[in-house]
Amino acid sequence: MYTVSAKEILEWKTKQLNYGGEEEALFLLLDTVAGLSKKDFNRYKINSDQTICLKKSVDDITRLWVEHIDTSRPIQQICGSAFWRDLKIRVTTDVLIPRPETELIVDIVNDLFRFSEKELDFVDLGTGSGIIAISLALCNPTWRGFATEVDEKALEIAKYNCMKLHKSSNLKFSLGDWWRAFEGFSGKFDLVVSNPPYIPSKVYENLSSEIKNYEPMLALNGGSDGLKHIKNIISGSPRFLKNKGWLILENHFDQAEDVKNIFIRNGFHSVKVINDLAGIGRFTIGRYK
Ligand SMILES: C[S@@+](CC[C@H](N)C(=O)[O-])C[C@H]1O[C@@H](n2cnc3c(N)ncnc32)[C@H](O)[C@@H]1O
Repeated sequence: MYTVSAKEILEWKTKQLNYGGEEEALFLLLDTVAGLSKKDFNRYKINSDQTICLKKSVDDITRLWVEHIDTSRPIQQICGSAFWRDLKIRVTTDVLIPRPETELIVDIVNDLFRFSEKELDFVDLGTGSGIIAISLALCNPTWRGFATEVDEKALEIAKYNCMKLHKSSNLKFSLGDWWRAFEGFSGKFDLVVSNPPYIPSKVYENLSSEIKNYEPMLALNGGSDGLKHIKNIISGSPRFLKNKGWLILENHFDQAEDVKNIFIRNGFHSVKVINDLAGIGRFTIGRYK
């Protein structure tokens, strides 16, 4: 343990933010690496005479912050952790850092099923860190969940997060290309969710180095029009959904109309686009038969 005065750490924070970066990123670093939560930090603002115990020295934390600013490496990867909804999960370069806009998927599902106590079967395709499947399983303990991922290392992270967050697990993980893991599961699922790679290749090429250099291309690039994986998931769903089962997909900011039409062409009804908190048509939902 390292001790510093609260005054010292308050001044340190101002100095680091003057160097660059965002306050929330600095709070993540303090919380996950030094063991100082945002809540405690704010308490010290009121009483700056106190002494604080940190798990790492101020020099060590400063080095990590400077690395984040100088190299654009995402702070979540430096810390090995990310917060999503009310959960803290492990992230590495093998998984997408879960985005705040995706958090709404859990609310959309809970609104559709209203925390149903019925035993439902759901699948999360392209689970990455596992965060969507784990959140749904935690909110709905009577549901049975399946999560698949094509990347072996990402799947290991998802399993690790599940073991840490959801010990009495009703989730099963499998490796495979979209529907391939579910050969024997025809008509099995009440709900399919996915946040697939949907960024058009040309847009992907121009992403910031913070994303392109550090997050897996496999998680982001959706082919020339960005719809390659979305089409694959939608056209495969009818075989695996139960009668009246729901499919919920996240899409790129300008794809909602196209995705809606692909749902309709594949026999879905009650097709609807749902906006994210920024008012962007980010999710498309539909029901099969
Ligand atoms: C946009 S990321 C979403 C990750 C996570 N579900 C989330 O929302 O943070 C897409 C995920 O799909 C996976 N993926 C890409 N191609 C796939 C395929 N053919 N079959 C299954 N998963 C795939 C990627 O490895 C990545 O983990």
